[in-house]
Formats: sequence, structure tokens, C-alpha cells
Amino acid sequence: MNKLLLSTVFMVLVSTTSVNAWNPMNAESAVVDGSTTFETNGCTMCHDENMEKMGPSLMTIRMSYGGDENALVSFFKGETPARVYPAKAAMMQPQLMKIQTLYDNEIRALARYVLGIEKF
Ligand code: HEC
Repeated sequence: MNKLLLSTVFMVLVSTTSVNAWNPMNAESAVVDGSTTFETNGCTMCHDENMEKMGPSLMTIRMSYGGDENALVSFFKGETPARVYPAKAAMMQPQLMKIQTLYDNEIRALARYVLGIEKF
């Protein structure tokens, strides 16, 4: 009986990975999957791992940020200006507004994913 209940709870958690405020997976303390956050927020439309699209590739971004997760979090929070292609910063601006509606742990997971230091 307990086992059944646990597996039901697990399945519900797994099936609700979309970004919803009520989703217990998105609580401040929950571990968030950066690659999922990257995809569900439309980042892949302009960013690819190796290829330059509308935005710089993640490889290019890593050349500016290295593994400095805190610096990238500051950029996402609007505290520091663009480093990679400042001339194109206007295109990234609406994305930053969107990122700033996310929880802190989601923003950090995004930074870790972009910098290639998140391996969940
Ligand atoms: C409409 C296209 C577009 C989308 C969607 C987009 N970006 Fe960007 N992004 C850009 C462009 C253009 C730049 C280059 C300007 C710049 O360097 O900030 C950029 C730059 C960046 C940078 C480099 C920051 C720096 O210091 O220059 C990061 C990191 C980044 N994007 C992350 C994201 C994430 C995370 C998402 C999803 C929430 C996202 N982007 C969605 C176009 C986009």
C-alpha cells in the first residue's frame, strides 16, 4: 500500500516537470534540471551547444564566463551588462525579463547548464 502511494507520488512529480508556480518540483529548495529549464523557456530557439544561431553558442558563452556561475547569475538578474555580444543585448533583454520571473534555484540551474557544469 505504502509502495503504491510512493510510486504514485513519484509519477505525479515526474509528469509535472513543466514550469508552474504550484508545482512542488519548483519550490525554492527543489533541485531543478537546467536543461529542462533551458528548453521550456525557449532558450534553444536562439542558442545551441556549438552552433551560432540568433544568439551565441553555449561554447562561445563559456569563453567569456568560464565556470563563473555567480557572474552568469548576476547577468541573468540584470545586475551586470552583456559580455558576449553587447551590440546584440537588446535581443536578449526580453529573455532576461522572463528569466527574472523564475525562482533563484531555476536561474542558478540555467547558469550551471549554460556553463556546462550541471550534470544531473
Ligand atoms: C530571441 C533569441 C534569444 C532567445 C530566445 C534567448 N537568447 Fe540568449 N542571447 C541572444 C542574443 C542575441 C545574445 C547576444 C547578446 C548578449 O551577449 O547578451 C544572447 C546572449 C545570451 C547569453 C550571454 C550573456 C552575456 O553576458 O553576453 C546568455 C548566457 C544567454 N543568452 C542565455 C539565454 C537563456 C538562458 C535563454 C532562455 C531563457 C536565452 N538566452 C534565450 C538571443 C536569445
